[in-house]
Amino acid sequence: MKFAFIIDPIQRLDPCHDTSVAMMEAAQELGHEVWITQLNQLSVIGGKAWALLQPVKLTPIQLQADRWVAADPWFSLADGIGSTSSSGRLTPLEEMDAVFMRTDPPVTTAYLYATYILDYVDPTKTRVINSPKGIRAANEKMYALQFTEAIPTTIVSQDKQVIRQFLEQQGAAVLKPLGGKAGEGILFLDPDDRNFNSLVEISTLQGQLPVMVQTYLPEAKAGDKRIVLLNGEPIGAVNRIPTGKEFRGNMAVGGRVAQTEITERERQICVQLAPTLRQDGLIFVGIDVIGGYLTEVNVTSPTGIREIDRLENTRLGQQVIQWITENSSLVIR
Ligand SMILES: Nc1ncnc2c1ncn2[C@@H]1O[C@H](COP(=O)(O)OP(=O)(O)O)[C@@H](O)[C@H]1O
Ligand SMILES: [Mg+2]
Repeated sequence: MKFAFIIDPIQRLDPCHDTSVAMMEAAQELGHEVWITQLNQLSVIGGKAWALLQPVKLTPIQLQADRWVAADPWFSLADGIGSTSSSGRLTPLEEMDAVFMRTDPPVTTAYLYATYILDYVDPTKTRVINSPKGIRAANEKMYALQFTEAIPTTIVSQDKQVIRQFLEQQGAAVLKPLGGKAGEGILFLDPDDRNFNSLVEISTLQGQLPVMVQTYLPEAKAGDKRIVLLNGEPIGAVNRIPTGKEFRGNMAVGGRVAQTEITERERQICVQLAPTLRQDGLIFVGIDVIGGYLTEVNVTSPTGIREIDRLENTRLGQQVIQWITENSSLVIR
């Protein structure tokens, strides 16, 4: 089969950490063709979505003394290592069996437009993961709000008074920009903080942009669990524990990864999410759970596979690719 991956410039990916690389590697190992492209290399021509596609070959990373080690270079493009991003072959995406939309957030206007282009991929020929409509429907922070039994007490507002009142009721809270990732802009709010007004003004652009404010969960000290879901089913999990004086557990800000189990409550959360995720075409998703509460549903480019594979001796990338080959829409062809 042929797999295309819409990714950030490949030179910037970390083969030992990035889930996109894990999935590309898995596709290659399972004997499929792997092609790459970028958000800014998509077009609609004659009512179909096209992309500048480049074939890529990867040297799989190796586990050495409990660490992933990558070859240098770890990938090669058909037209030479380090070839410019404008190279590639203009190809209708329907020639691919599956297209992975894996560009990192934020969801910019360019990102949003790319999802509209992907609407012109014929679903009877090619599966787009995640569904462009689903990605548009799901703001990573706000999507969780519909699962009222699973989430901690949360508001979304740009109003300083509303936020202050909530904070005083809760005692402590966490403020989150709605378009952030990897801990960016996440703030701990304390009702006695003399910077409170200023923090809210900066985060809301003077009351113009809503933010999420959530009750502070002290269990966050024990970790923020990433659970990876494939078609609504949990397939693996990893815990991320804040280190030093940092309160955020994100790997990008130094969170330590540790082995973990999926609890009964967390399985129940997955059961609650599954029908909605399936309906929205959100096939590959990473949810964040703190102290048994759902805090985020990552749909754009969730990560975690490399860490889970290392700790659990799994090959989740292969599981994902296998699922797609078994559930591809090819049967309709
Ligand atoms: N309600 C909360 N209580 C305590 N800590 C939180 C809470 N929500 C998030 N955090 C901390 O902030 C980090 C980032 O939060 P998250 O909502 O996952 O946003 P993102 O990962 O997109 O930046 C988490 O890893 C966790 O350590
Ligand atoms: Mg998160």
